[in-house]
Amino acid sequence: MSQPNDLDHQTIATDLASATIYPQGAHLTHWQPAGRKPVLWMSAKSRFELGAPIRGGIPICWPWFGPHPVNPEKPAHGFLRTMPWRLVDSINLADGSVRVTYEAQSDEMSQQLWPHKFLAELTATIGPTLTVALTVFNTCVKPFESTGALHTYFAVSDVTKVKVHGLDGVEYLDKVDGMKRKTQHGPVTISNETDRVYLNTESECVIEDPGFRRRIRIAKSGSKTTVVWNPWIEKSKKMSDFGDDEYPHMICVETAAAGDESIKLDPGASHRLEARISVQAI
Ligand code: BG6
Repeated sequence: MSQPNDLDHQTIATDLASATIYPQGAHLTHWQPAGRKPVLWMSAKSRFELGAPIRGGIPICWPWFGPHPVNPEKPAHGFLRTMPWRLVDSINLADGSVRVTYEAQSDEMSQQLWPHKFLAELTATIGPTLTVALTVFNTCVKPFESTGALHTYFAVSDVTKVKVHGLDGVEYLDKVDGMKRKTQHGPVTISNETDRVYLNTESECVIEDPGFRRRIRIAKSGSKTTVVWNPWIEKSKKMSDFGDDEYPHMICVETAAAGDESIKLDPGASHRLEARISVQAI
């Protein structure tokens, strides 16, 4: 296993919160509001290697979510999560938060995988609330279409005890049951492998975690899709960068544009996918 220090990263520590972000993928791996436990989950087995996805935190999936729609040889969840990004701005805001901005753009490698030109900007505002926004600009002369997600891994005390509120009555694609369309009844609870793409929902979600005595609130914009994922036992064993016994401690609630939704951008147009994450004691 490689060590976190093998890859370049930036740490932010203020009176309000601390955070860590890797320029590879503009990937946040840590956010902890002052006086609280860390909110993002990281696998102890994650690789921190050039060109390899990091397991945990907030991977940025784009320009496709999940497997490539026609070519399974192409990287799952696209290539932004493993591209080199550059830090272009870091400012202290009046409320004591820090906002960092990273950029990445199409290059030879990306155009081999996806024949379009783009500029991507990731801003992370680190304070008592974490605001993460991915803005993509079409810098090409042709329109393009993409899917994507802020694939956020949250740390939980025991996934079998948490409830995810905000999706009651929402239709979803069940990826572990042949992509069947189903309807959510009540809060989402986890008692087996769960991989669901909730459709046409702009609602805020709340992870209620009695063990950690907290609620994590995830508000969003620019997203009509929410993905909920926990790999459970067998799938965990198949992932080399995910510990066999780590699945009870995480849940992904992803701010996405996927499933029935895709983002179509004309030349010069842009789209902003934003998640606002905050924590309350219970
Ligand atoms: C989720 C998908 O968003 O990401 C799952 O819905 C997938 O199907 C999971 O297994 C992890 O993907 P990866 O490529 O990071 O292993």
